[in-house]
Amino acid sequence: MALGSVIIGSGMALPAQVVTNDELGQIVDTTDEWIVPRTGIHTRHIAEHETATDLGAAAALRALGVQEGGWLREGAIDPATIDMVICPTLTPEAHFPSEAALIRERIGAVNAVCFDMSCACSGCVYGTSTADMLLAASAADRASAEAAGRTPRRNVLRRILVVATERLSRLVDWTDRSTCILFGDGAGAVVMEWREDEEGMLASYMENTDDTDHVLWCDSAFCARATPFSPAREDCDPYMRMAGQAVFKFATSAMVRSIETALERAGVTAADIALFAPHQANERIIRYAAKKMGQPVERFQMSIGHTGNVSGASALIALNEALTEGKLQRGDLACMAGFGGGLTAGACVFRI
Ligand code: COA
Repeated sequence: MALGSVIIGSGMALPAQVVTNDELGQIVDTTDEWIVPRTGIHTRHIAEHETATDLGAAAALRALGVQEGGWLREGAIDPATIDMVICPTLTPEAHFPSEAALIRERIGAVNAVCFDMSCACSGCVYGTSTADMLLAASAADRASAEAAGRTPRRNVLRRILVVATERLSRLVDWTDRSTCILFGDGAGAVVMEWREDEEGMLASYMENTDDTDHVLWCDSAFCARATPFSPAREDCDPYMRMAGQAVFKFATSAMVRSIETALERAGVTAADIALFAPHQANERIIRYAAKKMGQPVERFQMSIGHTGNVSGASALIALNEALTEGKLQRGDLACMAGFGGGLTAGACVFRI
């Protein structure tokens, strides 16, 4: 019997302001000619007034079909039927409440329990894979409760909203040309529902590697604060820092390894995948992965050209664009992949 977590809605949101490479060239020593061939990025959206909550709520409302512009598998989804909101983010508006709780309030997900995830650019995969595992655990709990004629022992989860939202522009050091050209702001969301008669997510894979050399790092802003009883941490650096070439090397191998492991777990091959929605960090990383797997790059969704790297939201945005552009049909297999700070990486395979 097929059963699994099915994506029943998808949405995204980008801030209104678009920043070109030429505009960055007025802030730091860089050019469009340098940026495009090395990254594939032409423009990115940088929030002026939109908060991470504004962007996340807009993406979520589109995924629910409350606002137009998203993708719905069957029909609009009542926010009150969402049992949980998971928000992968590096840039929450507050330490607490969680970003997920702020989005819950905005969208009227009045029955949802909420929490954030800190897993950097793997948020797309960590978020959806965790949602899938929780939905499966809840289904098993309900089944055993029913068999024993008692009530479930855990929260009942049938629908989970995964919404990744980022205002990375606040973490970027705008004097550092090696990083400020790469990132953008935005949000992506999916609603996942447990079904007893459909496959949904076939397999997932997540991994962590120690970042002993600090190749991708950003201290939190509060480590720079002294208290009456303790000094501020002297080496605190609350800006995003990156060793570009080391990250490039990690990214290419982690992405291929993650996709191949998830495909193997799903019992399918790369040729079976109608569309890959990879994390959008650098077009060259995506092209490398396609080549290494012997797959045509046309089957890898590219949104980086107009979004830049939106961390955990990137692959959800890529997936949303593929769905709304009609590139994925009911029954198609898709694969999402991510990698980033932590160091984290992962991939998941699911049937649309
Ligand atoms: N404009 C112009 N020159 C730049 C520049 C910019 N925006 N950024 C760096 N440079 C310069 C460097 O200062 C260096 O100059 P030097 O040789 O005089 O010292 C030169 O370009 C080469 O720098 P390097 O870092 O070796 O470039 P690269 O070819 O590795 O490309 C990245 C840089 C960042 C595009 C690339 O390393 C990359 O994409 N890495 C992965 C990043 C990533 O995926 N991060 C997110 C993970 S989730």
